[in-house]
Amino acid sequence: MREKLLIANWKMNFSIKNSIKIFEEMKKKSLEFNFSNNNLKIIICSHYLSTKSLYDISVENLFLGVQNITHLSQNEGPFTGEISAELVKDYVDYSIIGHSERRNLLHESNFNISEKLASCVNVNINPILCVGENEETRLKSNHIDFVLNQLTDSLKGFKNWDTLKVAYEPLWAIGTGVPCEPNDAKEMIQAIRSELNNLSNTNEIPILYGGSVSSTNISNLIDSGEIDGALIGSSSMDPEEFFKIIDICRSIWKI
Ligand code: 13P
Repeated sequence: MREKLLIANWKMNFSIKNSIKIFEEMKKKSLEFNFSNNNLKIIICSHYLSTKSLYDISVENLFLGVQNITHLSQNEGPFTGEISAELVKDYVDYSIIGHSERRNLLHESNFNISEKLASCVNVNINPILCVGENEETRLKSNHIDFVLNQLTDSLKGFKNWDTLKVAYEPLWAIGTGVPCEPNDAKEMIQAIRSELNNLSNTNEIPILYGGSVSSTNISNLIDSGEIDGALIGSSSMDPEEFFKIIDICRSIWKI
């Protein structure tokens, strides 16, 4: 079975103190659930300020990630406000790359994203590459072409296929409470899978869905059999809800 991942994206939320509190609650739950299955990764992506604090109290069952790294290739230097993959590599195993909030609000290009992917793999951080269309593109039925173009442009020159995870996050589903219809998500994930097979020659890259995932809609999404996990925003901020989602997925995947 392909690797499964359930990823919390806490975005720009939680003080250091609250990050620790929520993480401690998740730790307790993860120990109760006794995850030791290598095929399922639970990953918590906090903002940088909390990363080291979470690392200091981390447990085997929960992996850590950051939400971004600089597109600049230098590890250190006069780059005000930037954080390199090298600077975080001792604390995390994953980084979200190219989230739509960064593509849109901070004007990240596919080229910038390809640079970030290269920086991640240079220091053994597994990149979680986000792709997704906006509502206008979907209404014009250009969504598949648009997403495949994002994917191939972002992956230009990329070769470390065993490190890569991809998340399909339609913009119109993020933070709206309205997820993608399971069949629409399935259609897109199949298109991404076929493109990734062409590019990489492997069928093992996990493809996740993100956008208004909750314990009430996750089973319909996962039941399609195409989706290898979820990238979860607001539902990941409540340990009770996040672990409910994890539990539902585990019973569907039987892991
Ligand atoms: P929500 O789950 O809050 O819609 O956020 C999704 C997301 O952007 C995860 O990266």
